Amino acid sequence: MARILLGVSGGIAAYKALDLIRLAAVAGHSVRVIQTDNSQRFVGAASFAAITGAPVLTSEWERDPARGAFPDQASPEHDPISHLELVRNADCFVIAPASANTIAKLALGLADNLLTSAALAASCPLVVAPAMNHQMWENAATQANIELLQSRSVTIVDPEVGSLASRNEWGSGRLAQPATILAAIEQLVPAGPRPWDGRRVLVTAGGTREAIDAVRFVGNRSSGRMGFALAEAAAARGADVTVIAANVELPRHAQIAYIDVGSAAELEQAASEQFSSCDLLLMAAAVADFTAADPTAGKLKKDGRTELELTLKPTTDVLAQLSKRRTEAQTLVGFAAEHGADAVDVGRGKLAAKGLDLLVINDVSGAGIGFESSSNEVTIVSAEGERHVPKADKLEVANEILDAVDELAHRRARTPIREVSDE
Ligand code: CTP
Repeated sequence: MARILLGVSGGIAAYKALDLIRLAAVAGHSVRVIQTDNSQRFVGAASFAAITGAPVLTSEWERDPARGAFPDQASPEHDPISHLELVRNADCFVIAPASANTIAKLALGLADNLLTSAALAASCPLVVAPAMNHQMWENAATQANIELLQSRSVTIVDPEVGSLASRNEWGSGRLAQPATILAAIEQLVPAGPRPWDGRRVLVTAGGTREAIDAVRFVGNRSSGRMGFALAEAAAARGADVTVIAANVELPRHAQIAYIDVGSAAELEQAASEQFSSCDLLLMAAAVADFTAADPTAGKLKKDGRTELELTLKPTTDVLAQLSKRRTEAQTLVGFAAEHGADAVDVGRGKLAAKGLDLLVINDVSGAGIGFESSSNEVTIVSAEGERHVPKADKLEVANEILDAVDELAHRRARTPIREVSDE
């Protein structure tokens, strides 16, 4: 467990700082937040206060109700100078997102707001995760400031390449993934024991593609976001995570192992090889139920046809097959995308039919949830009952699913196994 002081500066990526706190919290860290005035235009202090369970400081002139204590500490009797006490208590000071302006101030040693004053007063390791427009990032002034900070042993978590906040802009400047920032923090401060240390988790993610010919396929709209969020959340709890990724184009994390697959058959083979060495299987991939019966070797030509018939044949139900090989100690979680009013009932049937411990059902008829979306709303069904998770970010939903796995294990540990007597 480490005490992480998080400085949030202005930028559209400020909302990602919420994900970083969620990940840090499940990894057992204690977090306090300092915000600049500009960052509050993007995410309000109330959000950070709610998620850290501690007051958020925004100015040198306000009194800290917690008197510089982190959520795991008791507040002192005296009333110290808040930001000095906060940095004294911190094991690491992370600035994420760090704007070009804040980086320039750090390089100059300015102390014109609470965040920069705290950075100047900090003797703990400093981690800076920049986020800005690509031209601002590539500007010689910013690059010189970054080099200067590095020469003073500041850890820089490089921004990622991708689409940026402004329309049609692409380049380097996107805030690094929360898991990447957390990994950089944990290189500097001891992480301590975590709840899922030693647990081996296998996740399938994405959607399989079944070739029709050399260039075409039958696919589905799964982006892999839910599976990747589950993997990230499990890794933050300390698990050894392997992801079987079917056609997923999302950032990868250094602590997670990935096996890339294309078709249902490839996913089946990889899952079959990995399954016996996992304690928990999270089968989030959308696996094709049918594959082309006779794919064309080259490119299928029109050849004057007015109609084209494609014959499909069923694939193996990978999850149902794995379930037959399972041991008592393994936990199996399936996912079902259902459409319409009876989504939960249909999903409940699959729980029993596939021999699963939990089934996560999402009703894909709802707008803004499920496929290709960053949010989800699910119902987690077990043999004993069900839990509805209202619409939330996929990382938050992932943590709810992992909590449900923990809850199931606790319930089973409490339930004595009935002796079967043959009298
Ligand atoms: N699944 C699988 N192999 C398949 C199809 C599905 O392992 N060939 C897994 C999915 O990864 C998911 C669960 O089974 O965890 C439920 O998937 P779903 O497609 O909803 O179930 P099906 O049994 O295929 O039912 P349906 O007829 O509704 O498609």
